Amino acid sequence: MRTDTGQVFRLEDYKPSDFLIPEVALTFRLDPDDTQVTAHLTVERRPGGDPTRPLVLDGDGLTLAGLTIDGVPAGAEDYEATPDALTIPRPPAADRFTLTIETRLAPRANTQLMGLYQSNGVFCTQCEAEGFRRITYFLDRPDILSVYTVRIEADRRSAPLLLSNGNRTEAGPLEDGRHHAVWHDPFPKPSYLFALVAGDLGVVEDSFTTASGRKVALAIHVEHGKEPRAAYAMDALKRSMRWDEERFGREYDLDVFNIVAVSDFNMGAMENKGLNVFNDKYVLADEETATDADFANIEAIIAHEYFHNWTGNRITCRDWFQLCLKEGLTVYRDHEFSADQRSRPVKRIAEVRALKAHQFPEDQGPLAHPVRPRRYREINNFYTATVYEKGSEVVRMIHTMLGDETFRAGMDRYFERHDGQAVTIEDFLRVFEAVSGRDLSQFALWYHQAGTPNVAATARYDQASGTCVLELEQSLPPTPSESRKRLMHIPLAYGLVGPDGEDMVPARIEGATVENGVIHVRRRHHTVTFSGLTARPTVSLNRGFSAPITLSQEVSTADQLFLARHDADLVSRWQALNGLLSEALIAAFRRLRGGKAATFASELVEAVVALADDDTLEPAYRALALTLPAETDIAREIGDNIDPDAVHSARVALSEAVAARGQARFAAVYAAMADDGPFRPDAAGAGRRALRNVLLDYLAVAEGRPDPAAAQFETASNMTERAAAMTVLVHRFADSQAAAEALDAFERRYGDDPLVIDKWFQVQATMPGPAALPRVRHLTGHPAYAQNNPNRLRALIGTFCTANPTGFHRADGAGYALLAETVLAVDRHNAQVAARLATALRSWRSLEPGRRGKAREALLSVAAEKALSRDLRDIVERTLG
Ligand code: TRP
Ligand code: ZN
Repeated sequence: MRTDTGQVFRLEDYKPSDFLIPEVALTFRLDPDDTQVTAHLTVERRPGGDPTRPLVLDGDGLTLAGLTIDGVPAGAEDYEATPDALTIPRPPAADRFTLTIETRLAPRANTQLMGLYQSNGVFCTQCEAEGFRRITYFLDRPDILSVYTVRIEADRRSAPLLLSNGNRTEAGPLEDGRHHAVWHDPFPKPSYLFALVAGDLGVVEDSFTTASGRKVALAIHVEHGKEPRAAYAMDALKRSMRWDEERFGREYDLDVFNIVAVSDFNMGAMENKGLNVFNDKYVLADEETATDADFANIEAIIAHEYFHNWTGNRITCRDWFQLCLKEGLTVYRDHEFSADQRSRPVKRIAEVRALKAHQFPEDQGPLAHPVRPRRYREINNFYTATVYEKGSEVVRMIHTMLGDETFRAGMDRYFERHDGQAVTIEDFLRVFEAVSGRDLSQFALWYHQAGTPNVAATARYDQASGTCVLELEQSLPPTPSESRKRLMHIPLAYGLVGPDGEDMVPARIEGATVENGVIHVRRRHHTVTFSGLTARPTVSLNRGFSAPITLSQEVSTADQLFLARHDADLVSRWQALNGLLSEALIAAFRRLRGGKAATFASELVEAVVALADDDTLEPAYRALALTLPAETDIAREIGDNIDPDAVHSARVALSEAVAARGQARFAAVYAAMADDGPFRPDAAGAGRRALRNVLLDYLAVAEGRPDPAAAQFETASNMTERAAAMTVLVHRFADSQAAAEALDAFERRYGDDPLVIDKWFQVQATMPGPAALPRVRHLTGHPAYAQNNPNRLRALIGTFCTANPTGFHRADGAGYALLAETVLAVDRHNAQVAARLATALRSWRSLEPGRRGKAREALLSVAAEKALSRDLRDIVERTLG
C-alpha cells in the first residue's frame, strides 16, 4: 500500500521536466510470482532544462534488480533506489544517454489492480494515472511522450495471446514451452497509455475500412465461451469509428485495434493506445444476460474509449490537473454519439438526471472541486462526476455558444495545432477564441470555480405594451476553500411559448446579449425586455439544459403544467413536469414530518397519467416522464435535515396516487407495448420495454399484490423484463412468496454467471427499509460474493450505500458501520476502490441530526485508523472537512 506523506500537488508548481525519454524498450519475462521487467530508456536533456539537476524517476513499491548507465553497470555511488524513486544524482553530461533498469514484480499478488496484475489468470496492466511507476522507474507524468517497443515472453500454453500497444512486429517460439512477441507503437505516448495483456482468451474478429481506405483489423478478446456476447460491442465499435469520421473528421491511425475484457477492474475501461482494456461488464451482453441499460452503457463506453484515441491519446494532458481536457471532452463526444444513435431528447434527459444525481451532490458537498482542480493529494480521487460530467457540460456550452460550424472549426484547429502534444485547458479554449473571435475569459470560470451556479428568474407581462420583462439574477454558493466567487458567463437557452404552444418571436430584446435562442448571463443581474409580443408568453428557461445550473423560478403551477404539455423543447417539457413532481414530493415530505397525511393535486397526478398513452411521444420518453424523482433526488432538493424514511413514504404515496388513477390506462398500454418480433437492443425496442416496466411497477402497486410482476417474471424472454419484474417483486412485496421464489429461480439460473449475479445482489441491496442491512450482511457470505472483485463489491455494498436511502441511512447507524468496516477491509488490498466506496458518505451533513451524528462517528472511526492509504485518507479527511 502506498503510504501517505501528506504531500499536496499544486497546479501552479508545474515545471517541465529537465529530462525527456524519447524512446522506451521494455522486455517482460512474465511469471505470476516473479516477472522480470527490463526497461531500456533513451534519456535526453531537455533544451532549456537545468543541467545541474539530478534525474529522479518515479517508483511505487518497486525494488531495483539492476541498473546500467550507458551500458555500464552502475556503482553504489551512482544512484539511490527506494520503493518510491530512483535517483541518479550525477547523470552523464551528454545530451543523450541510456539507462537499463531491471525490476521484479509479482502480478498474482497485486491486489490494487494498478500496474501489472492478473485477472482470472490473464496478465494485464492498468497504468492511468500513476500505475506505470509500479512496473518500472520512470518519469511517470503525462507530458513525457515516448515511442515504445515492447517484447513479451510468456508460457505458451497459459498465455498464447501476447498483446501490447501499436502493431505487432515479431512473434515466435522460445525454449521451455515459452514464446514471445514484439509490439511497436509509432505514436509517442505518455506512460499512462502503456498496456500489456497476456493470457488465454477467446476472440471475435472483424475489420473496418477507414474513410481514406485503410483496413484496420479489429479484435475483441473475452473469456472462452463468451465470444457471442461480444458481438454487440463489436458493432458499437464499428459505429463509433464511422461516427468519429463523419462528425469530427477523425480516422483511426494504426493497423490493429484490440479490446480485452477482464473481470477485475477498478473502473469502467481504459483507452490504452491501440489496446483498450475493459471491465467485462462493459463488453459482454446478450438478451439473456444483459438489460437494455447494459447495452446502452456498452455502446457509450466502447465509443468513449475509442474517441480517446484523438481526445486523450493523440492530444494528451500536460499534467493531471488537466484531466478534464481529455475526459470532459471525450464524454461530450460519447454523449453526442449516443444521441445520434438513439433518441436525442431521451439521451439528454438521461444525462441531466445523471448529472443532477451524481455531480450536483459533489458540487454541493465537502468534496466539491473545480472541473480543473488546483490541488490534489491523490489524483485517483479526481476521476469524478465533476471532471467527467460537468467537464462535458462545459464543452457542450461552448458548442451552444458557437454553433455547429464554428465549434467544428475550433475542434479541427485543436487537432491540427496540438496533435502529438501534451496540452492544457488554456490551449483548448484558445482555439475556440481564435475561430470565433470571442473572449472566453469569463466563460473559463466554469473550469476554475467549483459549485453549481443558481439563476433566479421572474417574468412579468404587460398586456398594454406587449412586453415581457424577465429578471435574472445569478449567484454561486461558496464551496470548500473558495468562499468568494466571481460572476459566471451562463448561456441560458430560452423560449417564449405562446398560448398555442408555438414559440413567439419578440420584435425587440434589450438587457442582455441574446443570440440564437440563448441569453448570455454575464452580470449578477439582468433585466431582459422582450417587446412587440401579441400575447402573454410562458417563459421556458434553460432549454435543453443549456447550462449546468439550478433555476429558482417564481412560476405558477398552471404555467409549469402548460410547459409540461406544450414546450417545443422536450427536455424542458420533462424539466417542467419533473419540477412539479419534486415540489409536490417535498410538500408531502413536510406534511409527513409534521404528522399529517401526504396529498397530491389531482391535476398533477392526471398530467403524469396522461403521458402513458400520449402517442405523440416516443415510449422511451414516456417511460422517463412517468418515472418519479428518485428518493435521492428529492433529498437533494430538500437540501438539509433529511429524514430518508419520510422521503420514502412521500414517494410511495405519490406512486400510489398515480397508480390508482392510471390503472386502467396503464394496463392497456402495458399490453400494447408487448414485443412481437425478435429481441433487438435498439432504442425503439428498449423504449417499449422501458415503458412497460415502469407501468408494471404502477400496476403492481395499483393491485396491491405481486401477481402482475410474478407473471412478467415467469414469461419474460429477456433480461430487461426479467430483472425489472424481479425488482418490483423485491422492492414492493419483499415478504411475499413470489419475491422469494423469483430470487431463488434467478439464483438457480444464473448462479455461475458473475455479471448476472451482480443484478441479483443489486436488487436485494436496494430493497427499501431496515431489513436490507441484515440481508446485505448475509449476502457477503454468499459463495458468488467476493470482496476483492470490484464489480461484486460495488454491486452489493456500493449499491446498498448509494442507492438504498432507507436501508443505508437506518436510524441506528448500522448502515454507516457496515460501510466503515467494509472500507477499512478493502483499503488493505485496494486503496482506489476503498476510497471511492467511502464517498457514499459525502452528503452526510445534509442528514437530520441523529443520523448526521452517527455518520460522523463512522467517518471518524475510519479516520482514526493509523494505516490508511493515501487515497482513503484524502477522501475521509476532506469529507469530514
Ligand atoms: N481513462 C479512463 C476513462 O476512459 C479511466 C480509467 C480507467 C481510470 N481505469 C482507471 C482512471 C484507473 C484511473 C485509474 O475514463
Ligand atoms: Zn475517459
